[in-house]
Amino acid sequence: MCGDCPEEIVSARKGSPLILGVGDGELMLASDVAAIISRTQNVVYLKDGEILHMTAKNFSITTLDAEDVSPVVDRITWNIEDSELSGYAHFMEKEIFEQPAALENTMRGRFSEDGSTAQFGGLNISAVDLRQIDRFHFLACGSAWHACLVAEHLIERFARVPVEVDYASEFRYRNMPLGNNTLFFTVSQSGETSDTLAAMREARRKGYKVLAINNVVGSSIAREADGGIYQHVGPEIGVASTKAFTSQLLVGAMLALYLGRMRDMNFSDGVEYVQALKAVPDLVRKTLELAPRIKEIAQRYAHFHDFLFLGRLSLFPVALEGALKLKEISYIHAEGYPAAEMKHGPIALISEHCPSVFFVPSGEMFNKVVSSMQEIKARKGKIIAVATENCDLPAGLADEIIRIPECHEAVLPIVATVPVQLLSYYIADELKRDVDKPRNLAKSVTVE
Ligand code: M6R
Repeated sequence: MCGDCPEEIVSARKGSPLILGVGDGELMLASDVAAIISRTQNVVYLKDGEILHMTAKNFSITTLDAEDVSPVVDRITWNIEDSELSGYAHFMEKEIFEQPAALENTMRGRFSEDGSTAQFGGLNISAVDLRQIDRFHFLACGSAWHACLVAEHLIERFARVPVEVDYASEFRYRNMPLGNNTLFFTVSQSGETSDTLAAMREARRKGYKVLAINNVVGSSIAREADGGIYQHVGPEIGVASTKAFTSQLLVGAMLALYLGRMRDMNFSDGVEYVQALKAVPDLVRKTLELAPRIKEIAQRYAHFHDFLFLGRLSLFPVALEGALKLKEISYIHAEGYPAAEMKHGPIALISEHCPSVFFVPSGEMFNKVVSSMQEIKARKGKIIAVATENCDLPAGLADEIIRIPECHEAVLPIVATVPVQLLSYYIADELKRDVDKPRNLAKSVTVE
C-alpha cells in the first residue's frame, strides 16, 4: 500500500502462490484457497510475474510490462461446510473421521468397466507410451514422501518396474543418472510446496514429463505438470496431513494396479485387487470404531518423552508417518524405523521410558516382527501393537493391542495408518497442544 493511494492494494506473484478471492462485495488475498473458502468460492489464480491492483470494489491484473491480463475467475468445488468444524473439536479430528468418504471420492469413476483395473482421466500419456517407461521417479516432501515410499513398494511388487523416491529438496542438488525412459511423479496435497515445485521444474527442464498427484485443483504444481491425478478429498485444514495422506496411499495403490495390469498382472488378480480397493472405505470405517480404545491408550501414554514406530516392507513408511504425526502435533520425540533395523542402533534407546509402536501383519513377516518385539520386551520396553485380526501374538508380548481388519496388502498401509493418526491426535489433545496449528509449522511450505 502507498500513502498516496490509500484506497488501493498492489500485490505481485513471484515464486510463492497468490490467489484473489472474489466475494460478495469484498476481495481477498491469500496463498491458499483454504484460507478464504469460508467467504467465497470464486478465485483468480495469479501467475508468476503478474501484478494485481485492488480497490474496495474492483481489481485489475497486469504483467510486469504493464500489459493488461484478462482475469479468469475459477469456481472452487469445495463446500463452505468443508471449512467448518461441524461439531468436531479440531479439523484434524474431523479430517480423520472424514476418511471413508474422502477415499470414496478419490476412487469415484476410476475403475474400468470390466472391474479389473484402474483408469485415470488426466494422465495425458498414452498407454503405449506408459508401457515403454522403465523407471518411475517420485518427488515429494514430508507425509507425501512417505506415501511415495508405499507407492514404490506396490509398483515394484505389482508392476515390476523399478521406482526411485527422492526428497524433493534433495533432488535438485543430486547428480544422479536418470535414464531415458523415466517418468516423474510429484506428490503434494497443496500443490504449492516450494521444494516439490522446484524439483518438478528441474525434472521438466531436463526434458522429462512430470505427472502430479495432488489435492488442490488449480495449484501451481497442478498447472505446471504435464498431467496428473487429483485426490478429490476436499480441503485439508489441519496442518497434520491425514485424509490427504491416506488418499495419496490409495492413488499409489491404484497406480500400481493400473501399471501392473498393463504388464504381467492377470485379469482375475486385477478383479481381486479392485475389490480390495473398493472395500477400503468400510475397512477404515471399522477401524475408526476403535477411537475410544485408542483414546484411552493415548491418555496412559501421553507422559512419555520418546517413542519408536517400527514396521516392515510397506508398513515401514507407515511407521515413519506415525512418528511424524506424533512429533509434529504433540512435540514428543519419535522415530520410525524398519523393525529389524532397530537392532543396529535405536535399540539403545529402549527402556521402560521409551514405548514402541509395532505394526504387525499376519503372513510371511509375522514371525520376524514378533522376534523384534521380543527383543524390545527383553529390555523392558512397553509395546503398543497395531496388529491385524489373525495375528496370534504370544500372550503378554504386547502391553496394548489395537486390532485392525485383515485386508489385501495393497490397502493394508491405509488401514494401519488410521490407529496412529488417532493415537497422535489424542496424545496431543491430552497434552493440550494446538493440534491444528502446531508450533513452527505451516500447512503449505512455500519457502525453500
Ligand atoms: O502439501 P504437501 O503435500 O506438498 O506438503 C508436504 C509436507 O509439508 C506435509 O506433508 C507435512 O509433512 C505435513 N505437515 C505432515 O503432516
